[in-house]
Amino acid sequence: MVNSLTIVILAAGKGSRMKSPKAKVLHEICGREMLYYSIKAARAMSDDVIVVVAHQKDSVISAMERYFTGLTFVTQDTDNFPGTGGAMMDVQPKYQNVLVLNGDMPLITPKSIEQFLHSDADIVMSVITLDNPSGYGRVVIEKGHVERIVEERDADNREKTIQTVNAGVYAFKHNVLKTYLPLLRNTNAQAEYYLTDVIALARRDGLVIAPLYVEEVEFKGVNSKYDLAQSEMIMMDRLRRTWMDAGVIMQLPETIYLEEGVIFEGECIIENGVRLCGESLISNSHIKAHSVIEDSSVKNSDVGPLAHLRPLSVLEDTHVGNFVEVKKSTLTGVKAGHLSYLGDATIGEGSNIGAGTITCNYDGVKKYQTLIGKNVFVGSDTQLVAPLEIADNVMIAAGTTVTAGKYESGILILSRTPIRKVEGFFSKFFGKGK
Ligand code: UD1
Ligand code: MG
Repeated sequence: MVNSLTIVILAAGKGSRMKSPKAKVLHEICGREMLYYSIKAARAMSDDVIVVVAHQKDSVISAMERYFTGLTFVTQDTDNFPGTGGAMMDVQPKYQNVLVLNGDMPLITPKSIEQFLHSDADIVMSVITLDNPSGYGRVVIEKGHVERIVEERDADNREKTIQTVNAGVYAFKHNVLKTYLPLLRNTNAQAEYYLTDVIALARRDGLVIAPLYVEEVEFKGVNSKYDLAQSEMIMMDRLRRTWMDAGVIMQLPETIYLEEGVIFEGECIIENGVRLCGESLISNSHIKAHSVIEDSSVKNSDVGPLAHLRPLSVLEDTHVGNFVEVKKSTLTGVKAGHLSYLGDATIGEGSNIGAGTITCNYDGVKKYQTLIGKNVFVGSDTQLVAPLEIADNVMIAAGTTVTAGKYESGILILSRTPIRKVEGFFSKFFGKGK
């Protein structure tokens, strides 16, 4: 945390290049909206974080309020003052030092923000040198001085070849913004008020503008769905690395999809192709190849290969094998080895769920619960019609349809049509030749 720093995050734009009905900053990276990450980095550095909103502002504000409290939201007047300069016009920073970040830079870190705070210049601006500068504002530097920034759409052919680009992070003194924001004009290709024009105005008055060369990877702007995918890969690699450093074993880590809200405890083994989403907790467990886990908790258990834990599943000391789907169910000390659907169920210690067991939890209108006690042996190919309550120490014979109701401890439940044997049927049907 740095004293006396205001951080402003620009998040009011539509993001037309995303070609999406959704505001750009709400597009997700590793399961959270990209704006979440810039705010997270900003919050680590300052208590005064201002987010400028406009396009889909209610959704943007409510999405961010799920993660953070105490943010200041400022609404940009995009009708009269569109553009990144317009975005700054109603901002009232608490402090003299103001750092401005674009909200489409999810890869920024507190460490990279910190570099801007070591200079006495009136403006410190981030620059990157790129082989392919397209999409970015070009920085015109003459005799070592930053003269101005030219947006791609306003650049002439010569300016377009400049490979030094504006990365979109700036440290301003508040009085610099106060002086120059009112002087911005929208006489450019997009008819917008560009924050980047403050640079040329300040330079004209002889202010000191320090370029800060930064790492492309942390300052990558997300403008298209391709950029979104690229940034997600980088973010996911960071997440995997963090968890491996914390003791998680990952096989072929680049094939593992992992979201920001997932937490590991103890020693976990995650095999290739696993997808771990939402607010999941994996504790001392082994998740085998190609399993999917969403918003679930798995403790001292093994899951998969090819298992699917849907939201609100809780597994403890449990084995869930291949082609088992679990939804909103609690399994404690259970074995469900193969091919089952367990939804809206609670299953107790020592119970065994045979292959092909299905909880029939839905009648087309409502969902119902299945409660199974301890040491219940559910034979293969059983249908459990909910609402259902089965006490401890019960055996269910293979192929049984257990109809809704309550079943007491110690019994065998069996529903089978008696076998019929029809003598000579085969040759009658297929003829003697078979
Ligand atoms: C901007 C810079 C460009 C730089 C690039 C770096 C300007 C004029 N250009 O261009 O020099 O190379 O970032 O990534 O600043 N926003 C608002 N209100 C608006 C418009 C945008 O808050 O009216 C927000 C957007 O939500 C976004 C950020 O500002 O988070 C940047 O906007 P974007 O349209 O992506 O600007 P670029 O064209 O990338
Ligand atoms: Mg951008």
